[in-house]
Amino acid sequence: MPVSLRTQVGIVGAGPAGLVLSHLLYLKGIDSVVIENRSRQYSEQRVRAGVLEQGTVDLLTQMGVGERMKSEGLVHHGIELRFGGRGHRIDFQELTGGKGITIYAQHEVLKDLNNARIATGGQVLFEVEDVSVHDFDGDQPKIRYQKDGDACELTCDFIAGCDGFHGICRPSVPSGIFTHYDREYPFGWLGILAEAPPSSNELIYTYHDRGFALLSMRSPNISRLYLQCRPDENIDLWSDETIWQELQTRLASNGWTLTEGKILQKGVTGMRSFVVEPMQYGRLFLAGDSAHIVPPTGAKGLNLAVADVQILARALKHFYSTGSYDLLHNYSEVCLRRVWKVQRFSWWMTSMLHRFPEENPFDHRRQLAELDYVTSSRAAAKTLAENYVGLPME
Ligand code: APR
Ligand code: PHB
Repeated sequence: MPVSLRTQVGIVGAGPAGLVLSHLLYLKGIDSVVIENRSRQYSEQRVRAGVLEQGTVDLLTQMGVGERMKSEGLVHHGIELRFGGRGHRIDFQELTGGKGITIYAQHEVLKDLNNARIATGGQVLFEVEDVSVHDFDGDQPKIRYQKDGDACELTCDFIAGCDGFHGICRPSVPSGIFTHYDREYPFGWLGILAEAPPSSNELIYTYHDRGFALLSMRSPNISRLYLQCRPDENIDLWSDETIWQELQTRLASNGWTLTEGKILQKGVTGMRSFVVEPMQYGRLFLAGDSAHIVPPTGAKGLNLAVADVQILARALKHFYSTGSYDLLHNYSEVCLRRVWKVQRFSWWMTSMLHRFPEENPFDHRRQLAELDYVTSSRAAAKTLAENYVGLPME
């Protein structure tokens, strides 16, 4: 006989989506249990994204988990677009009426959320195995899993599939329900974490004949940099010297130098745009990377996951307060309006800043014209700025 547990909302995945949802539900008086197959240590040390939209910063602050973010996060009010060896600043403050972004690593957000969950008696079960979801087309969906050798069954009112792109929730929905939208890009990003003071106070996105590069950071002493590479790039073929040399070339600008340092971590990630519609089936609701993937150029992955679960938490609170399923029935429609606008922006940033293998001279000149337009027209710069800092929530 399995160990039987009961909660209102069962959450698969303790990434940004799962943990923000769990704590939002707690703050709304709704019980949840988070089921995570990795260890807490693993998820809190995995180097992922680092840009928080204004709305995400405001939400985490309102949730009472923003203290360390406020003290350690780096607030930025602009980015630089660099091409032809020249930099052009996009002034978020001026273009968005004072909004900005905060550089604060995703794994730091997870630490703050895990601590908040523990401090408030939250149930986040790490290192569970053989997770599966069942009966979500009925009114008592279940999550089955192994924990410390015991077979367990969690009966819920609703299940939130926050288990990322490679999770089990999306594939558990019967075939024929979902429509998949997918675009793989013909390049990837080679990313490094380096013990080097950032050579710029703000992010630099550069368009170069040899390919895209990005200068970001994690702290006054730690730089985070990326360069466009083949999608199947073998990281072992890239010595530290070669990486720095390529970054120096692509980021070069008159009178500016890139400070190098010890590379602490390096890796290659592929790039794709992906959306599944709808984002729900019965009492199973997909949120975050389980439902969509964006190329990292727009720095949207974490922020879109947080937006999904804000919408889901609001709908669940409405149900438990009034018994009405209205907002739950509209969950997917409301999320997808934002998802597709974010997909568009992420695709646009990616298409503008990367060299494409199949491009011809016309495409190259068109990209340069796009960059010239965005950095010379206030209207064009405003569209970049308002998307980058984060569109308003519905
Ligand atoms: N059972 C339990 N947990 C699972 C399972 C499973 N079968 N499969 C995956 N998980 C966990 C993963 O270990 C991870 O902790 O679900 C979590 C999913 O987290 P993310 O992949 O981070 O997805 P999400 O919370 O939607 O956040 C999206 O995270 O990966 C980045 O670039 C992405 O910035 C974006 C953000
Ligand atoms: C990062 O700091 O990891 C980062 C910043 C901006 C991006 C992507 C990644 O567009």
